[in-house]
Amino acid sequence: MAQLRAVDPVDPVAVAGLAVEVGADLVVIGPEAPLVAGVADAVRAKGIAVFGPSAEAARLEGSKTFAKEVMTAAGVPTARAYPCTDEASTAAALDRFDPPYVVKNDGLAAGKGVVVTDDRAAAEAHARECGRVVIEEYLAGPEVSLFVVTDGETAVPLLPAQDFKRVGDGDSGPNTGGMGAYAPLPWAPPDLVDEVMRDVVHPTLAEMRRRGTPFSGLLYVGLAITADGPRVIEFNARFGDPETQVVLALLETPLGGLLHAAATGTLADHPPLRWRTGAAVTVVVAAEGYPAGPRTGDVITGGEQPGVIHAGTARRTADGALLSAGGRVLCGTATGPDLAAARDAVYQVVRGIELPGSHYRRDIAATAIDGRITLPG
Ligand code: AMP
Ligand code: GLY
Repeated sequence: MAQLRAVDPVDPVAVAGLAVEVGADLVVIGPEAPLVAGVADAVRAKGIAVFGPSAEAARLEGSKTFAKEVMTAAGVPTARAYPCTDEASTAAALDRFDPPYVVKNDGLAAGKGVVVTDDRAAAEAHARECGRVVIEEYLAGPEVSLFVVTDGETAVPLLPAQDFKRVGDGDSGPNTGGMGAYAPLPWAPPDLVDEVMRDVVHPTLAEMRRRGTPFSGLLYVGLAITADGPRVIEFNARFGDPETQVVLALLETPLGGLLHAAATGTLADHPPLRWRTGAAVTVVVAAEGYPAGPRTGDVITGGEQPGVIHAGTARRTADGALLSAGGRVLCGTATGPDLAAARDAVYQVVRGIELPGSHYRRDIAATAIDGRITLPG
């Protein structure tokens, strides 16, 4: 039975104290903010197994500039990039590229710190708002999220998935934390995972070890499959949402044992992963106004059906009613013998959820099913 405890998740001392109090065998740290704050270090210092990188290693997600330094040192293929701190350096960097311009906030931004635009004035405005940004080459090609479980040395890839970052159908509107996902990817090159492990993951892990800050936990590799091959868009130091919903729906191997092996440096002894056949699709139901300014506090019905996973929800104390409490409120996840079947099933689930003003994308996995995703080159 799960229990929600009142603890400040970004307070390393408080989380470590709670882990000791409950006699935890394994602490799994989900989001990036506690990782960057050093919660994994504090819990590990108590002699408790932790799945999640140290604060030093979490900088692979926490700082775009640091991630680029590591990739450069490790020879990892990624977009050319220039860190910028003022108007002059921003203008000089934008001059080096053709549109679309890619301007990234150089800090944690929960997936919302990137502006990709043809409009130079909008690119400059985002840079001004953020203060410190990284401006980089636009990578053209379909995107892939690859999750890798690692103890710092051994690395085990999960199934590649695809996320839908834009809020609207047909990839319209602003970027979000992710509006839906599917796996597996019928259009992906068959050697994609091997190539990414060889050219990206192992060199990155080796570089982190060389620096004396090995990365253990979940290395999330966000890639674009370009005409020149896979290129890293970003690293995250945690499972990604909503790709995790589809990847874990297909994973047959118990997750706890896998994460424990990574946390204790024994991943090399872990048996190979077993996967269900078929496919999984997840669709996020977002609150009115998301991503700009989500409205919260609305009553949800249909949130308790099988296949519904909660994110931004809360219980009303008075009567236990389910309320929206975040931007991405909940999602439906379904599996099926193929992507089309999983997609039909997930929309059935999502149609059963009622939340006033909410919205969801209608086209999750559609282009993959129709064979309309093509690799450039
Ligand atoms: P990030 O926060 O780095 O994951 O970026 C969020 C989204 O912006 C990515 O999933 C891409 O859709 C887009 N993006 C970021 N960097 C690039 C790039 N160099 N080229 C093309 N698209 C990008
Ligand atoms: N799905 C994108 C992320 O978790 O950052």
